[in-house]
This record gives sequence, structure tokens and C-alpha cells, in this order.
Amino acid sequence: MIDLGLDGARAIVVGAGFIPVRAGNGRGSALQLARAGATVACIDKDAERAEQIVREVTDEGGKAFAIIADVLDSAAARRAVDEAAERLGGLDVCVDIVGGARWSKAADIADKDWDSQILLNLTQVFYVFKAAIPYLISNEMGGSLIALTSVDGIGSSRFHAGYGAAKAGVISLVKTFADEYGEHGVRVNSIAPGNVGGNNWDLPEVPFGEDVVNALAPPRGRDIADAVLFLASRLAAKITGQTLVVDGGAVIQSPWRMTEDQIERNAAFSNATS
Ligand SMILES: NC(=O)c1ccc[n+]([C@@H]2O[C@H](COP(=O)([O-])OP(=O)(O)OC[C@H]3O[C@@H](n4cnc5c(N)ncnc54)[C@H](O)[C@@H]3O)[C@@H](O)[C@H]2O)c1
Repeated sequence: MIDLGLDGARAIVVGAGFIPVRAGNGRGSALQLARAGATVACIDKDAERAEQIVREVTDEGGKAFAIIADVLDSAAARRAVDEAAERLGGLDVCVDIVGGARWSKAADIADKDWDSQILLNLTQVFYVFKAAIPYLISNEMGGSLIALTSVDGIGSSRFHAGYGAAKAGVISLVKTFADEYGEHGVRVNSIAPGNVGGNNWDLPEVPFGEDVVNALAPPRGRDIADAVLFLASRLAAKITGQTLVVDGGAVIQSPWRMTEDQIERNAAFSNATS
């Protein structure tokens, strides 16, 4: 048996509710952490969805409770994290999955839409991290902060520039928090999902090599949840300031898309010119 070090852990998942047409990253994170033995404070702005994920966790025999808060408001984020930590009796893990994209060409983005994308995808992560840090610092065992970024924060974010810029900001933010609070044993990481899309929670595995974008297979919400579980666990005890890409191999593809029938031609060219 491998000990994930999460039995009895005190965890927060921000955005734990599930909207069935979407990815379910928060739902998966809450379920996986609870399955590993953590008690999970499920923070969500939507009361019904928060209660639903709590029911799902407890129906499986796990421990969870709901807190209703809209973390786009700094004071509300702090109140929610304070309440969670108080009810949990401290804090070991805090996961923030909130975020989402708005679509248009870069120069057509209204200023207010730019601001709202930065708030939703970057500033609220800062609010949540800022609220969680005092509890993690005072935890002798340290703790783990995790946010969701996106592969769009690594490459171009074509037609959703505000989202990509904010997600790139998250990649920087986790490095800075990791650097500043590592001496207290606090690990801070992000996960960059690829094209998870939505409504694919229960889809079976796609066989390797069948999807043109993802050599392995397209990731689903439950694959993102597994990455959350890993980064929260003691298996990642020496991993901090990192962004873990979970995209089925999409972004590392060679831009040249060379086919196997080109190997011989290229080898002949190399031999002739060497
Ligand atoms: N789906 C993808 O392809 C993909 C790809 C890359 C990254 N992501 C990232 O995944 C995350 C979204 O995952 P999802 O689609 O499973 O989540 P979602 O949008 O379905 O939201 C999950 C829950 O978060 C709650 N929530 C939203 N805003 C909130 C707020 N301000 N305060 C409190 N709760 C709030 C919602 O009520 C919902 O119950 C985002 O960070 C997104 O950038 C998704």
C-alpha cells in the first residue's frame, strides 16, 4: 500500500460543485481527496451544487461540508477560507479550480471583459491563496496550495487573450508563493489541463493514437483530479512552484508533424551532407 499522507487531512476545494456540461474538475478533486481520507470543505458560489458534491462525497463514506461564497470578492474568499479552516481545525490542502474563458479576437475585447477575465482567472486565485497562507504557515507539517491554470497560459491563447494572460499569471504566482513560503513547508503548484472540454466525465478511455491533438488521449475531469490528488499528496513532497501539464501530450507535439515515411528521406539527406 502506498501512503498518500492524506488520511485525516483537512482540505478545501474552491469551486467544488459540478455543472454536468462542464469538466467537473472541482467535483473530481473533492471526490479524490475525500477518497484518500481528507475531510473536504466544498466552497462554491452555488448552494445547490455545493450541497450536491457534499452528498456525493458523504454517500461514498467520505467527509465533507459546504460553504457558500463567491471568491471573486476578496472579503468573501477570506470569510470562506476562515470558516473552512475553523471547522476543519486547521488546513493542509487548498485547491482552487475556479476559472473560465470568454471568447473574441484580442483587439475586440471590451476593457470590462478583460478586467473580468483577469479577476476570474488570476486575481481570485491570489485572494484564495492569501486567505489560506496563514493557516498553512502555522501548520507544522506545512501544506499544499494548488490552482488550475491552462495550457493556454503556456502557449498562445488564440481568441481568448484575457484568459491566457491570466493563466500565465497563475503560473508565475505559484512560483512566487512557493518561493516565499517554502521555508514554512508550504508547497504551491498549478495544473495546466489541455482540452478537457466538458461533459466527458464518464467517457471511456480513447485508445492511444486515435486523437490527432492528444497522442495519448484527451484528458477528462477525472484525469485533472488525479493530478490534484498527486500534488496534494506526500508523493509530491519535494515538488513546488511547478505547473503540471495534463493534456494527453498535446502541447509537446513537434510543430513539423513529420511522418514516418520522411525518415528515410531525411536520413539520406543527412548521410549525403555529412
Ligand atoms: N475544460 C477545459 O477544457 C479546461 C482546460 C484548461 C483549464 N480549465 C480550467 O478548469 C477550471 C474550470 O473547471 P470546471 O469547468 O470543471 O469548473 P466549472 O466552471 O464547472 O465550475 C465548477 C464550480 O465552480 C463554481 N464557481 C464558479 N465561480 C465561482 C466563484 N466565483 N466562487 C465560488 N465558486 C465558483 C461553480 O458554481 C461550479 O459549481 C478553470 O480554472 C478552467 O480555466 C478547463
